[in-house]
Amino acid sequence: MAITYNEATQIFTLQTAGSTYQMMVGRYNILQHLYYGRKVEGSTMDYLLWSSDSGFSGNPYEAGSDRTFSLDIQPQEYPSAGVGDYRTSCIEVVNPDGTRAADFRYVSHEITAGAYKVTGMPAVYDENGESSTLTILMKDTATGLELVLKYGVFEKEDVITRAAELRNTAKGTISLEKMLSVCLDMGFGEWEMIHFHGRHAMERQMERTPLCHGTVSVGSRRGTSSHHHNPSLILCTPQTTEDAGDCYGMAFVYSSNFLAGAEVDQMGQTRVVMGIHPENFCFRLEPGETFETPQVIMSYSGSGFTQLSHNFHRIISDHICRGKYKYARRPILINNWEATYFNFDEEKILKIASQAADLGIEMLVLDDGWFGKRNDDNSGLGDWYVNLEKLPANLSSLSEKVNAMGMKFGLWFEPEMISEDSDLYRAHPDWALQIPGRKPNRSRFQLVLDMSRQEVRDYLFERMSDILSHAHIDYVKWDMNRSMCDIYSASLPKEKQGEVYHRCMLGVYELLERLTAAFPDLMIEGCSGGGGRFDAAMLYYSPQIWCSDDTDAIERLDIQYGTSFLYPVGAVGSHVSACPNHQTGRITPFATRGVVAMAGSFGYELDLNTLPEEEKEQVKKQVADYKKYYELVHQGDYYRLNAPGDGKEFVAWSFVSADKKQALFNLVITHVRANNKPIFVKLKGLDASAKYRLEDGRVISGSALMNAGISIPSVSGEFRAIQFELKAEE
Ligand code: GLA
Repeated sequence: MAITYNEATQIFTLQTAGSTYQMMVGRYNILQHLYYGRKVEGSTMDYLLWSSDSGFSGNPYEAGSDRTFSLDIQPQEYPSAGVGDYRTSCIEVVNPDGTRAADFRYVSHEITAGAYKVTGMPAVYDENGESSTLTILMKDTATGLELVLKYGVFEKEDVITRAAELRNTAKGTISLEKMLSVCLDMGFGEWEMIHFHGRHAMERQMERTPLCHGTVSVGSRRGTSSHHHNPSLILCTPQTTEDAGDCYGMAFVYSSNFLAGAEVDQMGQTRVVMGIHPENFCFRLEPGETFETPQVIMSYSGSGFTQLSHNFHRIISDHICRGKYKYARRPILINNWEATYFNFDEEKILKIASQAADLGIEMLVLDDGWFGKRNDDNSGLGDWYVNLEKLPANLSSLSEKVNAMGMKFGLWFEPEMISEDSDLYRAHPDWALQIPGRKPNRSRFQLVLDMSRQEVRDYLFERMSDILSHAHIDYVKWDMNRSMCDIYSASLPKEKQGEVYHRCMLGVYELLERLTAAFPDLMIEGCSGGGGRFDAAMLYYSPQIWCSDDTDAIERLDIQYGTSFLYPVGAVGSHVSACPNHQTGRITPFATRGVVAMAGSFGYELDLNTLPEEEKEQVKKQVADYKKYYELVHQGDYYRLNAPGDGKEFVAWSFVSADKKQALFNLVITHVRANNKPIFVKLKGLDASAKYRLEDGRVISGSALMNAGISIPSVSGEFRAIQFELKAEE
């Protein structure tokens, strides 16, 4: 049993293949966290609890004359504000009488088979009923408010999910000013936090920082999960490496504002939290109403980051991604954005398509500019009608011509946006989020639609489904190109304005759900100015996300490295683009661009007609290689063989098939030197006892390749790449 409850000790034990999570109904029915870490058996962990009389850390009234038990020190599962725990809380409630406190105590629990759902939001699903769920009911006696804590256990995946729900069972309206999804109290240990920060065109840069007394936190207040901080974190010991040591990962299954961080308290204990950012958040709940938090995916690895990444890759690929393209090979695409920007017509697009088809590319994606009066980024968003000046024969004709070349056809949308210069805005200015009496903040000259409104979502569904059913469209790139602010919904009363960010997010999920249900074979690629909404929740609707607007192969090494910690390779949209690169001006060999883009969902984004014949031949080879290695890359295990910026003159990674019979080694030289020495790289994840044949004919044992490594002869020339296959001999 993955979840057990011991009546005598009142201890819950959640077991996965490699980890144990324990909590206890403690004194006064307070739900106390006991342990999360390497699997332990045959012991209850309540011996870890300790208490002391600590000044300025008070005691619950029930403790009477015992001054040693303080909420401010005891580890808890879901601490609330206002009742004596002064550390970061999970929940802050304003009660019907204006008081600001809640004190939830255990009432009952239920253990059920299968995964729990989160209403209106994505969550880890379980088609085979292999997981189990623990639901714990808690109550605040003074108000009658009920809190439900949910724990999902995916035993073989080594994953525990968490979410919470507040039911207003009080006698009046309450305001929920903060409600996080998870708290993890680590009673002992010295920890570091890894998080992934960035900016537009430079997402998910890994940063590792020791925790100190006080709080280290990241988050987003932008209405998207953001380029600036990814909604994920890793907690690890200072000694943890790729291959050894304790680490815990958390990924938020949500795409809007979030807070994630860790606080080290007066006793040196660490509290990790994750949830919706409390700023600009206030939910009013009438009696009988419920608020549900988004879910957090947690995993523990006792053997370093590689194992932790594999756990996250599996759970996201198998239990978050859905639809036809969850496992089916995704078409290799050519996107016209960096080839034409807004300046195209049917002839230009068909020329790109025809050259792409000749080289074996399988889908043409028509990017921004095909609709409304959209000749630059100042106008047209919201007018999802084909621009017949640019495409007089309409999209149906274009898609048919592309199909006739043997290619699929894909189309760009930015559904959540509206340009002031659009027919939609002229008809419905109140559909844009903006504060009455203030001029809105413009970004890329566009405003954000109020996705909390049903009529806005109905309009978008009608427009998108009309376009999708009048042309043969297999793929949609769903973009979102600005941060949100000026938050005010004309459709909500003033006391509900604190709900707008979250309601907009729920609106986006609802529209995505409706669209994927109506067009089940449609493949959606997520995008937000590249990877500004690269999170586990969007992967529920779009199995791949455009990883970054930075297509420079060398910059992508850093971006894809950071992304790989929690997200699977298949999620990473990655293209070969033109040189000098449009974002950096850097020149890299065509082959290197191919090797880097192949560590993802592969495509091209340039005018292939401009390539010299020799590079066109390379395209054919890359297309063939990608098809050949697709399963290995997408279903195999991904290994980071070193880290960008670690002082070495290269970055290397590999893919190893589940049966360890096949591997693909990749390396890019990032700094070429004179009189160079050979490069030694140790491989990972191979079968130690197998003999591997390399492409150059050498046969080397798995144990030699992993312990001594291979030597790569020195190469000259800037940014060269090396890629070769290893096959186990029968
Ligand atoms: C965003 C996307 C790009 C492209 C443009 C179009 O920046 O990330 O790939 O689609 O929008 O405006």
